Parts: sequence; structure tokens; C-alpha cells
Amino acid sequence: MLTAPLLQTGLNTQRFARRIFSFETIDSTNNCAKVLAGCFAEEGTVVIAESQSAGRGRLGRPWLSNPNENLTFSVVLRPALSPESINLLPLSISLAIAGAIEKATGLSVQCKWPNDLLVAGKKVAGILLEGSVKQNALEYVVIGIGVNVNQITFPHEIDTTATSLRKETGKEIDRPLLFREIMTALEREYSQCASEGFPSVPPRWLQRAAIINKTVTLSQNGQMMSGVVRGISGNGGLLVQIGDATRTFLAGDVTILKE
Ligand code: BTN
Repeated sequence: MLTAPLLQTGLNTQRFARRIFSFETIDSTNNCAKVLAGCFAEEGTVVIAESQSAGRGRLGRPWLSNPNENLTFSVVLRPALSPESINLLPLSISLAIAGAIEKATGLSVQCKWPNDLLVAGKKVAGILLEGSVKQNALEYVVIGIGVNVNQITFPHEIDTTATSLRKETGKEIDRPLLFREIMTALEREYSQCASEGFPSVPPRWLQRAAIINKTVTLSQNGQMMSGVVRGISGNGGLLVQIGDATRTFLAGDVTILKE
């Protein structure tokens, strides 16, 4: 089991994962982290579980992850975010996790808007942000992170679209080591954005983008559209050319149709 002492051995962060709540089984680490965040848990607090009975992804989808093989955890943040920066936080989190996975495995990781991470075109990690607003101010954000680490078989519904670090490297991955790389990268990224703001995020994200100049379908509020991805706006929206017009999408789901 991924216990706090095992995960914290050799971890050099100041805030991230200094406090870890570790579970064998839980409904969702995001649920637990939200309760803790509402009870004043300090920033950087982590909830991690070997198995989730109701792990969830974006857009109400389930997050399917075999027990004891992957990383499924949540981190409590209390960012001082302006409304324009809210969509840049997930992109910056994706950048940190992509860099950490590359460092731990040597694989090349790409970002798919809004917050999926891909290796060889398949999903290797997903991020779910959930926040609470009180009196018009952001009280907290919980970032839930699922990384497919050592799982080698996937349920048929995601078998063609998901992969794992073990599948891609052919080697079993040290999960505590990867966890520490992710925490170190998150702390660095988060401190950089706290001190400098988010202007560097869109250009850095574009360098890792898997979908630029590709034809995609985009679903938003049940409506399907297709167009060519042209970039990312300064506030983290996806720029999609549909016919002669370029539209900015701040939420939605993207499927790559052709290269
Ligand atoms: C997605 O790609 O749709 C986001 C997936 C997020 C999954 C993680 S696993 C840990 C945390 N707890 C949850 O219930 N979900 C997130």
C-alpha cells in the first residue's frame, strides 16, 4: 500500500504532500479532499487511495483504475486566482505532470485540451479540478489526478484509447518515485504561477500540444461541431477554426478526427 512514510521518503517539497491521507479503498479521493479542504486542510494536503469505488472523471464519466497498479490521488490548493486565470490552472497542472512523467520514465508526453495527457496518442493520465466558491471568492480547488502506471489491461470501452507507462516503456514503474516527481514538479509549477502569473502557460502548453492544426470534433453542452484547432487563447480557451470563423471554447470535449 502507498503509505505516507513510503511516499514521503526523500521528498523535498515545502508544501505539497507534507500531509498525506492514504486509503486502501475510498469512494473518490476528490470527495475526501473536498471535505478536508472545507475543514481548513492546508494547501498541498494529499488524499491517495489504492482503489476507488466511485472514481470519477470529467463530464460525469467514471475513472476506471485497477487497484494497486496506478496512482489515484487528489491535492488541496487554495490559489489566489483571477477569473481570467481559472482556465489556465488545469493547463499548468498538466504541464507539471507531463514533465514529471517524462523525467521518471523517459517517455514523451503530450497534452490534449483541456487536461488529458497522452503517450503515443493514447491517454495515460487525466485531471479533474473541482472547486468551491464562498462569498464570491475561491475557497479551494481540489485537483484529482489519475495516472495509468502499471496497469496493462484495460476495460474494453477504453482499451483502444488508454495506455499506461508500463505498457509504453515495457518496464514496471516505481510508483512512489513517480509520485515524488509529480509533487516536486507541481510545487515548482505552482510557485512559478503564484509569483509570475500565468503568461508563460499557453506558450509552454502549445509546445506539448497534441492537437494543433488537427481536425477535431468538439462537443459542448450536447452540441457537436467540427473544426481545425488553431491554438490556445491567453486565458486557456481552445481556438477552433470552424468554416471561416475562429471560435474560442472554454469548456468541452475534443476528439481528434484526422492528423
Ligand atoms: C478525466 O480524465 O476525466 C479526469 C480523471 C480524474 C481521475 C482522478 S483519480 C483521483 C481523483 N479522484 C477521482 O474520483 N477522480 C480523480
